[in-house]
Amino acid sequence: MTVSDLQARTSELTGVIERASSTQELEEFKLAHLVRKGSIAALFEDLKNVPKDTKPAVGKALNELRKAVEEKFAEKEQSLGGGVKKASQSSIDLTLPSRPIPVSAPGHEHPLISVLNEMVSIFVDMGFSVAYGPEVEDDEHNFTKLNFPADHPARDMQDTFFVKPSADWKVGSDVKPLVLRTHTSPVQVRLMESGKLPIRAVIPGRVYRNEAISARSAACFFQLEGLVVDKGVSMADLKGVAESFSKQFYGEDSTIRLRPSFFPFTEPSIECDVSCYICKGKGCRICKHSGWLEVFGAGMVHPNVLKMCGIDPEIYSGYAFGMGIDRTAMMRYGVSDIRLFTENDLRFLEQF
Ligand code: PHE
Repeated sequence: MTVSDLQARTSELTGVIERASSTQELEEFKLAHLVRKGSIAALFEDLKNVPKDTKPAVGKALNELRKAVEEKFAEKEQSLGGGVKKASQSSIDLTLPSRPIPVSAPGHEHPLISVLNEMVSIFVDMGFSVAYGPEVEDDEHNFTKLNFPADHPARDMQDTFFVKPSADWKVGSDVKPLVLRTHTSPVQVRLMESGKLPIRAVIPGRVYRNEAISARSAACFFQLEGLVVDKGVSMADLKGVAESFSKQFYGEDSTIRLRPSFFPFTEPSIECDVSCYICKGKGCRICKHSGWLEVFGAGMVHPNVLKMCGIDPEIYSGYAFGMGIDRTAMMRYGVSDIRLFTENDLRFLEQF
């Protein structure tokens, strides 16, 4: 094998390619010359028999041969349309539309928001308006004006998240720290302070408590508060609204029961339960075999609270209630761990 042999061979092979008139012929050429067991590979194999002194020149000529043949082949393949054929034979189909980006369905509601909205719309149908308030509150609205005594345990660091009112604030300073609201009740105070009476409002929103996080309790959850203040409002009105809400939300056949309770800002205070909608009061795992589900805390607005908000308790009276949304949503959808609501796992969220 000499340099001139290889040059002759180069023009011979490129000539064959040149004359090919179909992709079929090109394919045959490839199988004969370009594959691993083809004639060009055989020439490389022969290189070891070439005398040492001519080897560099012969090797160079052989590389040039291969390059020239491959280039000619690619060029011919293009001109015969083989290039397109090659693309369609490859495992990537460039004509396929791309896969959809996995997002929750557009406008998809979070299960907590669905439950909250459903509750709100029941109250709106009963003539309530919807009000909102800040999540970072001052002590006055979250506690003081709701008649919490100065030494109430809710004011303890163990129960409440405090927020420094300024960067240089220190514990023990005269200025009270701000809080992440521990309930939606401070918005009651804001509504009453505004002086626009009568009031008939529900207040949905997030609240925060310094809880040990578990399957049943989160440090941040949703509440729905209600407040009605007018002349001649009584516990009978509260009971009527509670009953109507329960029938609409838990089913026509549900019944309620009221138990005495305690909140600093209501007097008297009650706890309202609804008959378990799963077992219809017979007792099951969801209602812990009691036949009843706790729905909300409520009561008549304490005269001290009305006074502190500038409302004369001799003329006006009111009731308030507050319910947790997360546990209601857990029961409704059979969710066993409250943390699933906020972990943003699409496998969970897409089930709703
Ligand atoms: N704020 C109370 C709580 O978070 C609930 C409540 C609201 C009770 C209104 C009575 C009246 O537990």
